[in-house]
Amino acid sequence: MNTQASGEAGAPAPPDAPWHPLCHGRELVDGGEAVPFDVRYRGQTCRAFAIRYRGQVHAYLNRCSHVAMEMDWMPNRFFDVTGHFLVCGAHGALFEPHTGRCVGGPGRGPLVAIAVREHDGVVFWQSQYDLQPVVF
Ligand code: FES
Repeated sequence: MNTQASGEAGAPAPPDAPWHPLCHGRELVDGGEAVPFDVRYRGQTCRAFAIRYRGQVHAYLNRCSHVAMEMDWMPNRFFDVTGHFLVCGAHGALFEPHTGRCVGGPGRGPLVAIAVREHDGVVFWQSQYDLQPVVF
């Protein structure tokens, strides 16, 4: 089982925080399209996305650290042409896919990371105190 979280996160999730199914692992192609999902972050419904980079799954809020805007430059497209950076479609901030750290452009810090794990071909994300599933 692989559990990981990167970039800026809220308080660390307690070890027993619930995990939520997100997608099948095969839906995430290395450097390819993201799988979107919705979360409640600090009381607001926000878009989030999961990507695969160098074999590992990572997930972040879909919210740029420059201006709180969604970042995909086409629906579910975050990787730049090199396939090694996430690029914000608004003004070009660049982020490391495996850490969420801003490495170029006008970003003002890392992306908000969401803990993910992949188990038996299914990707899960984990609640944190300020990050919860959307209840319909
Ligand atoms: S909103 Fe992302 S770079 Fe400006």
